Amino acid sequence: MPPATPDPAANPDQLRVLFATSECAPLIKTGGLADVSAALPAAVRALGLDARILLPGYRPVLAQLPDCRELARFAASAAFPGSRLLHAPTALGVPLLVLDCPELYDRPGGPYQTAAGSDWSDNALRFGLLSRVAARLASADSPLDWQPQVLHCNEWQTGLASAYLRYAAGARAATLLTIHNLAFQGIFEPELVAALGLPRDCFSPDGVEYYGKLSFLKAGLQFADAITTVSPTYAHEIQGAALGFGLHELLAARKDSLHGILNGIDTDLWNPATDPLIACRYAADTLAAKAANKRALQRRLGLATAPEAPLFAVVSRLTEQKGVDWLLAIAPQLLALPAQLALLGGGDAQLERGFLALAQNHPQQASTTIGFDETLAHVIEAGADAFLMPSRFEPCGMNQMYSQRYGTPPIVRATGGLADTVVDCTAATLADGSASGFVFHAPSAAALLAAVERAAGAWRDGATWRALQRNGMARDFGWDASARRYAAIYARLAKNR
Ligand code: ADP
Ligand code: GLC
Repeated sequence: MPPATPDPAANPDQLRVLFATSECAPLIKTGGLADVSAALPAAVRALGLDARILLPGYRPVLAQLPDCRELARFAASAAFPGSRLLHAPTALGVPLLVLDCPELYDRPGGPYQTAAGSDWSDNALRFGLLSRVAARLASADSPLDWQPQVLHCNEWQTGLASAYLRYAAGARAATLLTIHNLAFQGIFEPELVAALGLPRDCFSPDGVEYYGKLSFLKAGLQFADAITTVSPTYAHEIQGAALGFGLHELLAARKDSLHGILNGIDTDLWNPATDPLIACRYAADTLAAKAANKRALQRRLGLATAPEAPLFAVVSRLTEQKGVDWLLAIAPQLLALPAQLALLGGGDAQLERGFLALAQNHPQQASTTIGFDETLAHVIEAGADAFLMPSRFEPCGMNQMYSQRYGTPPIVRATGGLADTVVDCTAATLADGSASGFVFHAPSAAALLAAVERAAGAWRDGATWRALQRNGMARDFGWDASARRYAAIYARLAKNR
């Protein structure tokens, strides 16, 4: 091992946090985790903490980081190939450590799946290595001079780090695991325990075993010193059988260490007054300019520019979680209101086909774009009248917050972070100035349709709509308050270490 690398940027008075993640915008993104991984470490740095990010060196990540410098090398061990730790200068405003292991990360396709949509068959090793290196950097065995007091893990991909640290010798950082989505757990065959360099005795119900399999997420939930999830309502929901995905009993048992902290949004990146990606910039007092964005969106998507119909939009992974099958079911009634629908997303092949057919059959009224397009996501937020998120469950959700900031009232199901961030439009909430969207409860297409009809009615009444837009735009969804809550947890963990 090379000698410890001195770190000129280190300040002994700052609390040191290593934020280990499997995606980080804008370098690599499949969903909200990437947004959080870019913004939260920056927000806690703004509070004076020394947070740094650890990210795998996937092919597209390294392609965007030409000036990496090697900090350390790790020899091959267990079934892991040798790897390197790189320091990468970026514009993120947060020091970035990249784990370079070409055998595991240098390939086409996505971070978790092949281009055809199946999981990489060596994901246990790919994220086992990320977890192992995160743990190494947080232990007495780190090759770096800079050692975190807190290791902040995210999702199953870094869940195993707490297990490695549990068995590491010497001083170690405290660990925090954030659950962004309990539906993804990282479950593998038990034979991999040895391949991952874990002691055999960790494979027990008190350890990493989960119904006879090895679970990365369970390992994290079992061994992390504290757990957070991304909204207060979701923190409560996951302690029950309906949304606990088999882990509710463990989560309920750890409820004193489980905190629900709402995600924030990057209010610089998502700001209609300065957004360079949209046709016409606007603010709450220049809402008339939003009409130009609607026309630009309609033209771009080939929709009729008829002004008399509301334009509903979706930007989403197309999966069962997101409830978009209900939207497909009610699409004929929605278009008959009359209204338009613009969808950007990708995922489930059957859902993709359904929305493509809808657009083909109603080219003036419905548009479907399959793929991932950050620019179009901004153009849609600015140009749509209302935004749809009919999720079956939603740990936090980012787009309902982006939508409110863009004067595009969201229509959401009352679950997880959606319930915590959108105020339903009623006579009472309009009167007290809190109404900011439409919230429905029953998990059904009929309940979604009723909410869509309510929204269309409010849209036709211009004054009500403007009130909803202004209320949403006035809300503060920035990271500051939540970053302070994370900082308080970090401080407590570091103190009790
Ligand atoms: P999840 O992480 O479950 O997918 P979130 O609402 O937390 O849901 O975050 C999704 C993020 O990914 C948002 O920033 C959203 O704009 C973005 N996104 C999702 N699908 C697409 C897409 N097809 N093109 C561009 N951005 C997308
Ligand atoms: C997950 C959740 C989403 C949340 C995001 C960021 O992907 O599905 O609700 O907003 O993580 O925490």
